[in-house]
Amino acid sequence: MLVNEAIAFAEQELKKSNNLNSRLDSEILVSHLINIPRESIYSKLKENFSHNKTEELQKLINRRVNKEPIAYILNNKEFWSTNFYIDRSVLIPRPETEVLIDLILSHLNNKKLFLNILDIGTGSGCILISLLKELIKAKGIGIDKSKKAITIAKINSVSQKVYTRALFKNINLEEIKFDKKFDIIVSNPPYLPDVSLKNLNLDIKLYEPKIALQGGVQGVDFLLKIIELASKILKINGLLALEIGDNQFYVIAKYLKIKRLKILDKYTLINKQVRCLLATKL
Ligand SMILES: C[S@@+](CC[C@H](N)C(=O)[O-])C[C@H]1O[C@@H](n2cnc3c(N)ncnc32)[C@H](O)[C@@H]1O
Repeated sequence: MLVNEAIAFAEQELKKSNNLNSRLDSEILVSHLINIPRESIYSKLKENFSHNKTEELQKLINRRVNKEPIAYILNNKEFWSTNFYIDRSVLIPRPETEVLIDLILSHLNNKKLFLNILDIGTGSGCILISLLKELIKAKGIGIDKSKKAITIAKINSVSQKVYTRALFKNINLEEIKFDKKFDIIVSNPPYLPDVSLKNLNLDIKLYEPKIALQGGVQGVDFLLKIIELASKILKINGLLALEIGDNQFYVIAKYLKIKRLKILDKYTLINKQVRCLLATKL
């Protein structure tokens, strides 16, 4: 079989499972097996695709047919132009989460300061690690209730060469006790309301960790706890960056005000939902 035939075969199989990205997914799977970036696949279409690889391809197709996300199949997801190692114990980093990094960076005049960062619910470590790569003198702590997530975040901090400035700890948010204060607190916490968990796409529902999604009845349980915590352990003029869910902005904005945190900036989706916000401690 040739590479282009392997792609056509995979596409055909994926189409049968109503996969709307069957062409793209098949190119990604075939590129992965021949170890080249997907963008280069068009220069390899007439090359041989071995029998062994065809068997491996069938296994990957079966996983995708069973709705497993491509990122888990490849153990990789790009975030802030960097490849992060991931597996099913962590949430797949999402493009909208990159906005948290944008918001923070755009409000820092000096990117070479010795800043202390806390990332709550660090998962793969994608937020903290990306910030540390941009803020070359900053240090950070990433905490997560999931032990497995902490292992993954540590792996990524080593591959991204920020491990000397990053500490990852297996701590429950409810048990955080820090005697020092932070310049930046960032979090993409679980924020889905209980009712919406039933209606998730199968890719998410069957494969992504529930602990990364469930945010309580209205979805704001963690967000409120983080704001409460930030009011105690964020320095005056420090930055708090949060990702929030649909219809949560009003409640969150109100609580930020009560806790003397002022909203500096926000990011609104096309559907008018605020997805990320940046606040400062007064
Ligand atoms: C939405 S995921 C975000 C992961 C990563 N920061 C990202 O943006 O891709 C939320 C994370 O919070 C963690 N988490 C859930 N409950 C927690 C708790 N009580 N204390 C600390 N972390 C928690 C989950 O394990 C998960 O990794």
